[in-house]
Amino acid sequence: MAMDSFTDKLAVVTGGGSGMGRELVRQLAAQGCSVAACDLNADAVAVIAATAWAAAPPGVRVTGHACDVSDEAQVLRFRDELLEAHASDHVDLVFANAGMGGGESFITGRREVWERTFAVDWWGVYYCARAFLPLLMASGDGVLVNTSSVNGFWAALGPGVPNSAYSTAKFAVKGFTEALIEDLRANAPEVRVAVVMPGHVGTDIVVNSLRARGLPAPERMSDAQVEEVIPASRRPR
Ligand SMILES: NC(=O)c1ccc[n+]([C@@H]2O[C@H](COP(=O)([O-])OP(=O)(O)OC[C@H]3O[C@@H](n4cnc5c(N)ncnc54)[C@H](O)[C@@H]3O)[C@@H](O)[C@H]2O)c1
Repeated sequence: MAMDSFTDKLAVVTGGGSGMGRELVRQLAAQGCSVAACDLNADAVAVIAATAWAAAPPGVRVTGHACDVSDEAQVLRFRDELLEAHASDHVDLVFANAGMGGGESFITGRREVWERTFAVDWWGVYYCARAFLPLLMASGDGVLVNTSSVNGFWAALGPGVPNSAYSTAKFAVKGFTEALIEDLRANAPEVRVAVVMPGHVGTDIVVNSLRARGLPAPERMSDAQVEEVIPASRRPR
């Protein structure tokens, strides 16, 4: 059953500062939907929120919030902030979109990068479901949209090119979301859930993910930094 209209709804978008999340904020607001967007990059999401709000029809409110979705306390603070900012006791749509790449090899990569990638891409989705499901139920017609990836089907970028932390997390997001379909039907039929499995989309995810790891854009990397990201043995591929 499709949602007839976004007008007068309230949507939550994580990772709203760039790429697909930014586009969601822009398009939802343009269609009359109020939006609370969060991002690790507070400046970027503040600019997007202000721009989308300025272009939106009357009555729409768009707010930007700083939040690291891998930290449950920050997700709960984001939830409380947005309910106050939008004077609401429910939300109608939640797009758990925030994500990053990294943790390519379990064998040769750094453990902290693997665990950081998994935490953002899996625990970020999980904490948002925990925080926002009661508010989607309070809507009476709520929709949760979790973003997985083509790497939720295929656990590598290609022959000889592992993508282990990202793939593990994206498989988990797909499995969790599919499990929720039946759980919601049985226990909270007023909420529906969908999983998004994008193929390659030309966003800034590579540069954003490197920045989140404290690395510069590829053209500004030292030889040691290039070696960390793309080991010499893999470079010919
Ligand atoms: N671009 C692709 O080809 C592609 C393919 C499949 C799936 N995806 C998934 O789509 C989603 C959106 O990706 P995108 O391509 O728009 O990337 P993007 O980098 O353009 O946007 C992602 C946003 O999430 C934010 N973010 C990262 N970690 C965060 C955290 N811990 N807390 C809050 N915000 C955080 C980033 O700052 C960024 O603004 C991600 O989940 C990604 O894994 C992307």
